[in-house]
Amino acid sequence: MPDNSRKRYCHNRLTKEDQIVQYLTSSSGYLSGEEIAQKLRISRTAVWNHINELKAVGFIIESLPHLGYRLVREPDSLLPSLVSIGLKTNLIGKSIYHYDNPDSTNDRADSLAKRGEPEGTVVIAEAQSAGRGRMGRIWLSPRGKGIYLSVILRPSLSPTRTPFLTLCTAITVTEAIRACTGLEAFVKWPNDVLVSDMKVCGILTELSTEADRINYAIVGIGLNVNCEKSDFPTDLKATSLRLETGRDVSRLELTRSFLHLLDNNYALLLRGEYSGIMEHWLRLSSTIGKRVKAETASGKNWEGVATGLDEDGCLLLRLDNGMTQRITGGDVSLI
Ligand code: BTN
Repeated sequence: MPDNSRKRYCHNRLTKEDQIVQYLTSSSGYLSGEEIAQKLRISRTAVWNHINELKAVGFIIESLPHLGYRLVREPDSLLPSLVSIGLKTNLIGKSIYHYDNPDSTNDRADSLAKRGEPEGTVVIAEAQSAGRGRMGRIWLSPRGKGIYLSVILRPSLSPTRTPFLTLCTAITVTEAIRACTGLEAFVKWPNDVLVSDMKVCGILTELSTEADRINYAIVGIGLNVNCEKSDFPTDLKATSLRLETGRDVSRLELTRSFLHLLDNNYALLLRGEYSGIMEHWLRLSSTIGKRVKAETASGKNWEGVATGLDEDGCLLLRLDNGMTQRITGGDVSLI
């Protein structure tokens, strides 16, 4: 059964619980009930009720008579009130929706976009019951072990330039992984991020177009953070950040880093700085200069050396007969 419960957060519309979490997080010691009650202009009983609500969703909060409340541990969840702590973005994540176990965050984001939710709105889930990958594949989404996140974008971009949305997101995920773990992550055309030559993240970009313009785009990322070997089918060439670093990686820190970096990188795209994005992508690429096999969506196979991207972000292959072939979509594997 898909889960319909959701929690919504807007920077300018914090709930009382969001505010209590933020006060407790920014305080190194105890905060008295009286102090919190005054800040929030509510009664001490109301503070106590909110604290109990927070405990019920997994916050460990110590309460001592005469001293007050102290946050011992945040739950390992991507609740909007946690993701938004210290988040200073201009566009991305100004509004965050959180679901526990929806069918797919891309589908939820799509419904929200149809209802007119603004550009930059983010949808996050702890698990997905019907996570989708490209080309009709399933995206396994074990609870609390990955980042399953979709963003609503409304770029004024020619539909031929839409591959740039995926390129821009791939750069962003790669930079966030490098910054938070020190791992050498690489982008792989068209929509993957690799670590140790294995897939650690996939990107699913879906468009609503009208005539020659994009109504909106939903960009979804599925990032394997703390998955174990047993979470993947044995024949899948996939890895997780935990498997690569040998330690648990904070999904919260990674999510915040991703949102900050996407805010910057998407701004470049909106300013039309395509060549900058392309150069950045090429620097982080594991595909260029290598011999690859491309299988297009129509089932055609091409083999050759990946030489670069064209102005629309499509992959260029130098075939053995010296001709250049432009690949617009499908799957690419290193030979
Ligand atoms: C792929 O590699 O084929 C793309 C995988 C994309 C998975 C993410 S998880 C969040 C968002 N919701 C979905 O149903 N899919 C994307």
